Amino acid sequence: MGWSFPDPEACHAWGKGLGETLTIPAVIFLEGDLGVGKTTLAQGVLRGFGVPGRVKSPTYTLIESYASAHGPALHLDLYRLRDGEELEFLGIRDYLDEAALWLIEWPERGGGFLPEPDLRLRLSIASPGYHRLEVLLATARAASWLPFPPAGEEHDG
Ligand SMILES: Nc1ncnc2c1ncn2[C@@H]1O[C@H](COP(=O)(O)OP(=O)(O)O)[C@@H](O)[C@H]1O
Ligand SMILES: [Mg+2]
Repeated sequence: MGWSFPDPEACHAWGKGLGETLTIPAVIFLEGDLGVGKTTLAQGVLRGFGVPGRVKSPTYTLIESYASAHGPALHLDLYRLRDGEELEFLGIRDYLDEAALWLIEWPERGGGFLPEPDLRLRLSIASPGYHRLEVLLATARAASWLPFPPAGEEHDG
């Protein structure tokens, strides 16, 4: 299942729709190379989940945590993580026992230290400015979170 986003606004808007419909606990992996739109999508999800104010990219801090009226939200960017064990020092353990929204960029770098995903969103660049999204459901409950198709065309596979 997948779509293409004709511009960053469409990517953000789709994320916002997802953030509005999902229910916690929710673990979302954001996959794909640098610059494909993982942070843009995460910012939309956090906005839809009710996180107010500016949403930064956790490029250097690796983790940003937020409080929304709907519960806690975590945004991780593990690009700079050296090994999964380092996650222990970021304090993620405190969040593992409570219902939270997890948005994880570069999850493949987290080794076995991350919670299991409900949803995997895989982004790629189809052509300049035109980004493709592939949605992989990992748990059945995540199927009910998917918002409207974005403005771009819908495609299979
Ligand atoms: N269709 C699109 N969808 C998402 N981002 C897009 C699109 N077209 C251009 N962009 C741009 O690509 C960049 C994606 O950056 P970012 O979201 O930080 O990616 P990542 O977190 O994957 O490295 C942004 O500058 C965004 O404006
Ligand atoms: Mg990013």
